[in-house]
Amino acid sequence: MKEAKIMNPRAFARKKIDIVIGTRPEAIKMAPLIIELRRRENFSVRVISTGQHTDMLKQALDFFKLKPDADLAIMKKNQTLDYITSSALLGVGETLDSDRPDAVLVHGDTTTAMASSLAAFHRRIPVGHVEAGLRSFDMQIPFPEEMNRVLIDRLAKWLFAPTELASANLRRENAVSGGYLYVTGNTVIDALFIALKLHKEPCSPVLSPLAGEAPFILMTAHRRESWGKPMERICSALLEVLRRHGEFRALVPMHKNPAVRDSMKDILGENERIILCDPLDYPDFVWSLGRCKIILSDSGGVQEEASALGKPVVVLRGVTERPEAVEHGTAILAGTEYDRIVTVADGLLSDEKKYREIEMRKSGNPFGDGRASERIADIMAETLR
Ligand code: UD1
Ligand code: UDP
Repeated sequence: MKEAKIMNPRAFARKKIDIVIGTRPEAIKMAPLIIELRRRENFSVRVISTGQHTDMLKQALDFFKLKPDADLAIMKKNQTLDYITSSALLGVGETLDSDRPDAVLVHGDTTTAMASSLAAFHRRIPVGHVEAGLRSFDMQIPFPEEMNRVLIDRLAKWLFAPTELASANLRRENAVSGGYLYVTGNTVIDALFIALKLHKEPCSPVLSPLAGEAPFILMTAHRRESWGKPMERICSALLEVLRRHGEFRALVPMHKNPAVRDSMKDILGENERIILCDPLDYPDFVWSLGRCKIILSDSGGVQEEASALGKPVVVLRGVTERPEAVEHGTAILAGTEYDRIVTVADGLLSDEKKYREIEMRKSGNPFGDGRASERIADIMAETLR
């Protein structure tokens, strides 16, 4: 048998990419990209977890059948931003020293993403930022994520903006110095489409009271700036909305953070129309997004997913870095004041015509077409040399 002659062996060397994740949304939004990059021959991909989250991260990765190649396991109860930053910076730095990747990819705005970008920068390893350019233009909301985004965008060589608006933010800041800026769509839509395709029925027994047509409101809340009083107002507002709409139940999958769970259990725990549960597996959560009547949430990813499903979200924040969802009509900013939350949610549940109009929006969602990972992988193949 004749052996194929490799003229230039270097041309065939796979490029090494380390993808660093730490929290649930990073796992969900990077999973489609990890899968796509691994499908291609040009890359050798390692997944590094800082372990900023534990069970919530694993739960998200399990659905995509992914496991971290390295886990720094940094999470502890009541972890401070300084602790996450310093332990991720040191841990990721050491991992990069032994891996020596050609590039590092991070996602979004978490402290894991910010510290990992910095660790790569310190080693002159180029960084790609997936979901670049989101801005609320308020450094306190979301905190500390708005600052994290700005820092990561300054540190990155590849800026993968999900939308034209995010790309315009980056151009306005002159963030693209000697690097690349592309509009790719958001990988969350890739993840959502995977879940919609694979799972039609819910698996968790906690969802069984919602089988059939039982109408319900879905609520999630976890942001740092909402801990304490704002969280209490959010929960009380949900009780009032339920009081006004006796046919509805509420499904509240609680974040694992005790600061969030304690308030939720105190205020919502005794109400038999409320299902207070642990975080749901991604496909079960996607099922809930599709089946609920309205969503109350301060989550970033949920605003994007709801937009693709044509589902109204009462956004439990004063500002959003996803104004596309507001313009699209699926997201309505309510903040964390009791009266405003009740008014907005009550309005959506009472005005069927307005509700139907929002539902119609699902076809033109501004966040992507499910092919963002493919585009990012193409760009990396073209530009990582
Ligand atoms: C983090 C991110 C936030 C992101 C969110 C997604 C930062 C500063 N914050 O916030 O941007 O929106 O994740 O959910 O990066 N815990 C567990 N098990 C888990 C996960 C968390 O017990 O699997 C508990 C721990 O007690 C931990 C606490 O939750 O100390 C807070 O976790 P942390 O990552 O600091 O903050 P999040 O609010 O989750
Ligand atoms: N999510 C999930 N199970 C849940 C709640 C949320 O899988 O019980 C998913 C949700 O679909 C979205 C992501 O988690 O993709 C959002 O994560 P989170 O709200 O924690 O973070 P954020 O998007 O606000 O950064």
